[in-house]
Amino acid sequence: MPRHTEIFGSLKIHEVQRILKVDSGGFANPRAKDIPFDEIKDVLRRTAIIVPVKDERTHLLEGVLRAIPFDCSIIVVSNSKRETPDVYRMEKDMVAKHHDLTQQEVLVIHQKDPDLGSAFYEAGYNTLLDRNTVIRDGKAEGMITGMLLAKSLGKDFIGFADADNYIPGSVREYVLDYAAGFCMSKSPYSMVRLHWRYKPKVVEERLYFQKWGRVSEITNKYLNFLISTRTGFETNILITGNAGEHALTTELADILSYARDYAIEPYHFIGLFDEFGLGVEDITNVDAANTGIEIFQIETLNPHIHEERGDEHVNKMLLNALQTVYHSKLCNDYVRSKVLEELGDILKDDMPSKNIVMPPIGNIDVQKFVGLLEGNAETFARFEQGLGAAVAIENEREKRE
Ligand code: GDP
Ligand code: CO
Repeated sequence: MPRHTEIFGSLKIHEVQRILKVDSGGFANPRAKDIPFDEIKDVLRRTAIIVPVKDERTHLLEGVLRAIPFDCSIIVVSNSKRETPDVYRMEKDMVAKHHDLTQQEVLVIHQKDPDLGSAFYEAGYNTLLDRNTVIRDGKAEGMITGMLLAKSLGKDFIGFADADNYIPGSVREYVLDYAAGFCMSKSPYSMVRLHWRYKPKVVEERLYFQKWGRVSEITNKYLNFLISTRTGFETNILITGNAGEHALTTELADILSYARDYAIEPYHFIGLFDEFGLGVEDITNVDAANTGIEIFQIETLNPHIHEERGDEHVNKMLLNALQTVYHSKLCNDYVRSKVLEELGDILKDDMPSKNIVMPPIGNIDVQKFVGLLEGNAETFARFEQGLGAAVAIENEREKRE
């Protein structure tokens, strides 16, 4: 159970919670929150897990797919290479085979599919398009695509799992952790974000459990700063600013705005602070403001071992995250000067640029949106649960015929 909950305007941010048992005893426990497995199962059935992927090793992606509980639907949004060797083709073939053997519901699409771009254009959602035609590169753009597909399946919960995960068993736990969070939530507007304590590394042929993420630490520090300067009470409540592994209710997904690239996760908070934080004056979404928005932070049992990227990636993440802080409505001169100091070398002489913010997706007619994909989009395939590969909607095959 969370020890403490920070109330910040309409937001309830719960302090980190730990997984004591992945499977629990099934009885009321005064010292820990016990969630019966049927409740978890019920949430899983109403969940879609989105896997954003860009040129990862197919073995890793396959491990992730195999680990996602059967009751969830899987949505793979790829931005992998299409030129020879066509990485996307390999991914899609692997997904088809996985479905053939497991009969789990899976949707797969390529982010650069021109028909996907037109479907967004038709929906009047242009901010993620390049010259009004194809979708730009970027994880956030892939995530938004995935969320619309999840909505088209009528899902109530949407979770994310990166494709570069080396430990499939951890992905299974992450999905169960999401479900556990939603079982604890009292608001239809809620989010679950995962946290890791260590980053295991091989040092002199032994595993060394280094503390998790420098970038995360800095991002969290500044997000907490925003809360502290507004409330006047210093806080360290927030520890999941960069949580790529997170899940949210469809109702919350509908009202959030999304920043580009790796700013999408920290911006969840900035967007919420700016709209629902303490002292916000012109509240646009009265229902959510009155109901309250709950944020759970869960420290997983399993470690997170993923692809190592270089310093450039790390710097980009930091810059993306702190730009959002810098331009937050809650940011004052003091925090702004601290951000500039922190970014020093990375920023050189520039000022932090404003993030492109993509508006909420709540008003998009998702049935029309997928209608435009079905029968058109060459890279889109939808493999339904239990129906077998033969009847799956595969536009590509139809097109070839
Ligand atoms: P980190 O784990 O936060 O350092 O970020 P990663 O670089 O591992 O990216 C997270 C996930 O997003 C991985 O599965 C990537 O393959 C995927 N990804 C990265 N860029 C893109 C993109 O442009 N589009 C899509 N759809 N996925 C992407
Ligand atoms: Co990664």
